[in-house]
Amino acid sequence: MCGIVGYVGKKKAAPILLDSLKRLEYREYDSAGIATIDGHFHVKKEKGKIAEIDKTLDLADMPGEIGIAHTRWATHGVPSKKNAHPHLDSFGKVAVVHNGIIENYVELRNFLKKQKHFFTSDTDTEVIPNLISYFIRKGKGFESSVREAVKKLRGSFALGIVSVVEPDKILVVRKDSPLVIGVGNGETFLASDIPAILPYTKKVVVLEDGELAILAKGGVVVKKFETGKIVRKRPVAITWTVEMAEKTGYPHFTLKEIFQQPDAVQDTLRAAPEELKNLAKFLLKAKRVYLVACGTSNHAALVAKYALAKLADFPTEAVISSEFQESCRVDRDTAVLAISQSGETADTLKAIKIAKSHGAKVACLTNVVGSSITRESDLVCYIFAGPEISVVATKTFAAQVSFLLLLASKIAELKGLNSKEFEKDLNAAPKIIRSVLSEVEPKVKSLAKKYKNSRHIYLIGRGLGYPIVLEGALKLKEITYVHSEALPAGELKHGTLALIEKGTPVIAVVPLGESRARMVSNIEEVKARGATVIAIASKDDEVKKHAEEFVSLPKIEELLSPLGYIVPMQLLAYHITVERGQDPDRPRSLAKSVTVE
Ligand code: M6R
Repeated sequence: MCGIVGYVGKKKAAPILLDSLKRLEYREYDSAGIATIDGHFHVKKEKGKIAEIDKTLDLADMPGEIGIAHTRWATHGVPSKKNAHPHLDSFGKVAVVHNGIIENYVELRNFLKKQKHFFTSDTDTEVIPNLISYFIRKGKGFESSVREAVKKLRGSFALGIVSVVEPDKILVVRKDSPLVIGVGNGETFLASDIPAILPYTKKVVVLEDGELAILAKGGVVVKKFETGKIVRKRPVAITWTVEMAEKTGYPHFTLKEIFQQPDAVQDTLRAAPEELKNLAKFLLKAKRVYLVACGTSNHAALVAKYALAKLADFPTEAVISSEFQESCRVDRDTAVLAISQSGETADTLKAIKIAKSHGAKVACLTNVVGSSITRESDLVCYIFAGPEISVVATKTFAAQVSFLLLLASKIAELKGLNSKEFEKDLNAAPKIIRSVLSEVEPKVKSLAKKYKNSRHIYLIGRGLGYPIVLEGALKLKEITYVHSEALPAGELKHGTLALIEKGTPVIAVVPLGESRARMVSNIEEVKARGATVIAIASKDDEVKKHAEEFVSLPKIEELLSPLGYIVPMQLLAYHITVERGQDPDRPRSLAKSVTVE
């Protein structure tokens, strides 16, 4: 959940570390810190957002050409200066930044206390520099001390480690937490995520679980941390530009990414066919198929479940990753398609591991090359949506849905069903999204002004309208902090109707298709209880007459509706957030990739 970065080279490290931290800040943001070495350690850290900390501490003003840095989201210990990273050992020999969780830290802490180490924070991390320095004090070198220490850790960790005993290198270790190494000219970088180092290098080495890397000015050496055996690795070239990872004129990444959806979908549809046929065959071989994902990726999976059934007569089950273990029957005839934008979501990774341990085959769909999920999967597919910085997923939802619709069409084709017409329609998706984006914003802005102070917003849909409203409600919750609840429209009368009263806003998503007429009855049902209905439907739809507010969309074929109908809800969430004076790019208590269970 935290972000780590590191630099060793010929330049002053602190300004580079600060810049990289800012690029990672979307990950976590309750505290931050930097440690550099110039003869001895220099450490600055504090609670708060990086910009605020920088104002008071002047983070770039630190000597040394080597350093590590961290931006934290609290797991063990409240956000505070003492709990902020980097953490040093009791004897000032080692500094560590850590992303992950050490499960056996209490046991290790007790052991170290007996060896005269003392602790100043409430974190699990502080045992790591102390354990390393324990081995250094026993006479071992820096690298062997790190290896010895790491062998004793249980849990997940991506670590950046520097030591005054060998001040020219950074040691980096990875187990179940993301980490990349950037190879520059006479300089080497480390980061939890690629955008952090994009301005400096496009050559990246992805570290696997169980590996340790030694970073120096001249390059990087990778070894297995258990055995010390060298692993030869070639850097991969990253095609993302720095501009792709920046705001390019938009006030927020969230808005930029909403408007990038046509391009993201275009890129996905262009690149998908390469692996699509293999994935279709892979799933067709199985007796049972689970689509496993969390959050927005789960909503894309629900769309896929619907499309696979309707278009390809291919039944699947969409399962929330954290429910997989308890609710699914898994054996050698099972195939799992894990869907994850980041490729790092701990719940999804765990579901994959469980599936594999029962003999199931696993494929994945992700946006991040070299992410953990790709290494656990038998077959890997990418959405190629480009970096998504905002915590709320927008363009990657559109890209996932496009890929999965194309998959449904491919499976239909392989089963001898006619899907040609649908494929043609799907190719028009970028154009459809573009026209929705250009048409709906003025209306959505006026709705945002009117409804920004609502205490509750309910969203209803049927069929494909249901995953659409689930995703709409998630966007509203994440950034507006207004309680938003989505439900299948037919389910209202089984309880939630009791909460609808005079003036309660109800968003009704009414795509074309068989459920349309029944949605009109549900609209009347909530209106009878005093609800203010905001309908989202096709331009000429008669539904307009039944609603107080109407968001008019171009005509969109039913199976493509998630791509068009989600847009007004993404924009509504964004504009309500801005109206309320909140920052849509930095929702409270949330992380872009949730790397703990
Ligand atoms: O990276 P993943 O797709 O695995 O992430 C899953 C969820 O954490 C994610 O979709 C989350 O719900 C987003 N913040 C939604 O906007």
